[in-house]
Amino acid sequence: MARERSANFDDNNFYQRADAFFSQHKGTALTYGDVSLATNYSEILPKEANLETRLSERISLNIPIISSDMDTVTEYGMAIAMASSGGMGIIHYNMPYKEQVSQVTRVKYHINGLLPNPITVTPDIYIGDVIELIEEKGYKFRTFPVTDENGTLAGLLGSRVVKARYSHIKVAEAMDHVSKVLTLNEAVVKPNPIDVADKFFSEHLGINKLLVIDDANRLKGLVSISDIERIMSESQSVLKPSRDSDFRLLVGAAISTVWKEDGTLDRDAIVEHVTNLCSERVDAIAVSAAHGHTKSIGDVVSLLRGEFKDLTILAGNVTSGNGVEYLAERGADAIKVGQGPGSICTTRVVAGVGIPQLSALFNASKGAAKKGVRIIADGGITKSGDIVKAMTLADSVMLGGLLAGSREAPGDIVEINNKLYKQYRGMGSLSAMKKGSAARYGHKKTDTSRKMTAEGIEGLKEVQGSVANILAEMVGGLQAGMGYNGAKNLAELKEKSRFVRISPAGMKESAPHDVIEVSKRS
Ligand code: XMP
Repeated sequence: MARERSANFDDNNFYQRADAFFSQHKGTALTYGDVSLATNYSEILPKEANLETRLSERISLNIPIISSDMDTVTEYGMAIAMASSGGMGIIHYNMPYKEQVSQVTRVKYHINGLLPNPITVTPDIYIGDVIELIEEKGYKFRTFPVTDENGTLAGLLGSRVVKARYSHIKVAEAMDHVSKVLTLNEAVVKPNPIDVADKFFSEHLGINKLLVIDDANRLKGLVSISDIERIMSESQSVLKPSRDSDFRLLVGAAISTVWKEDGTLDRDAIVEHVTNLCSERVDAIAVSAAHGHTKSIGDVVSLLRGEFKDLTILAGNVTSGNGVEYLAERGADAIKVGQGPGSICTTRVVAGVGIPQLSALFNASKGAAKKGVRIIADGGITKSGDIVKAMTLADSVMLGGLLAGSREAPGDIVEINNKLYKQYRGMGSLSAMKKGSAARYGHKKTDTSRKMTAEGIEGLKEVQGSVANILAEMVGGLQAGMGYNGAKNLAELKEKSRFVRISPAGMKESAPHDVIEVSKRS
């Protein structure tokens, strides 16, 4: 009898797939710590697990990790670090919009293979003018191609002559004349800029800029040896940068709803902002609000979809399948899921709403599957195991607190009792709303007629080192989880994962216990 019972036993009934598991727990909202994943037969080694994912039909990432659009998390330094490790950063909007546009530019001009529009100078100005330009714009380089008014290459102004002592000399006299400058035609370079430039620099001792021209000698681009060397060394590293088709790092920017005095949406201001971001080649726009299943967020998404057909639009936040469907119908490519799970959030305390993250993701994943869009698990992730669990339902994760203590997060370091910290605050905290993020929570920063109720706190994160190290640890954990699930890619992780509810005692058993920890885990 016992043998018969065993013969009929199938552990797929015990460890359940997402549909069966979440349906059985209907009415109880679960989050990362409430469940564990069962292991599966595996033929893959963790390091072989492929982490590629898509944000839209147009954008793919090498790792499914995005940094939050928060003013203590993502500015250009974080965005560069995120894209350099294969993810993407979303630059926050708590700053004048022109400043946000110039931060996008800084990311797009970070190390590049072929720079299609290098900064040039004209032959008729003085070296002093060039020095002024460098100071005014904050350029980190001092070598400039020289072009005439038609864009035709006239020469190259090398850094060795861009010195205050030569201020009175004209560029035309100081530059290397075009007849002495080494160039390559764009037809030779464009199909494979990195390899062609690498060969070019090996063959031309001491040359560190390659100028690319067209058949009429017009300047079409520039390649720097330092970029090529960085790119060649990156190709050996485990985390490959996420780049666009011109080899620039990917970056996103968040926008908020802008209102006119009469309470209607300021469509012109929103379109102007996004047009400027698009001219700098931003890769994605996030329309971010605490409550995304609303007419105003839907209207902003429709407006952008109408104006910018090829733009990748992220929108949120929602916690239901209906919310995902609504934003997808308005034109969003990826929808952020999470209301109240964030480490600095108080939405659930203040407003009494929000759904623990795994149940929210399950519901959202159903709406996403119906509409063919992607979802982003936003908030509440405190360790790599949470990322594995999130990725059983979502297409990427968004991290705030895990990155806020890194070297690349904005903000000063403060020392308290011999420990170093960085500020980390919710975008719904009073100080952040006063700076500009009030619209995200349905307030106006100038509104004095009613009290702005905070939905986030201000806190500190211990300083943690570089983003690359944090991401390497997260990626290692995600790949380990995929190995245990027998999943060679993220689609297989979704297909194969099986859940169990975990008891409080089980949770205690899951972390180190009954020992004195002498070395840190990370
Ligand atoms: P983690 O847990 O990664 O969460 O620190 C980051 C996410 O939290 C959201 N966020 C907020 N939610 N009040 C909230 O209720 C806030 O003040 C707030 N600020 C940020 C946001 O989705 C972010 O990505």
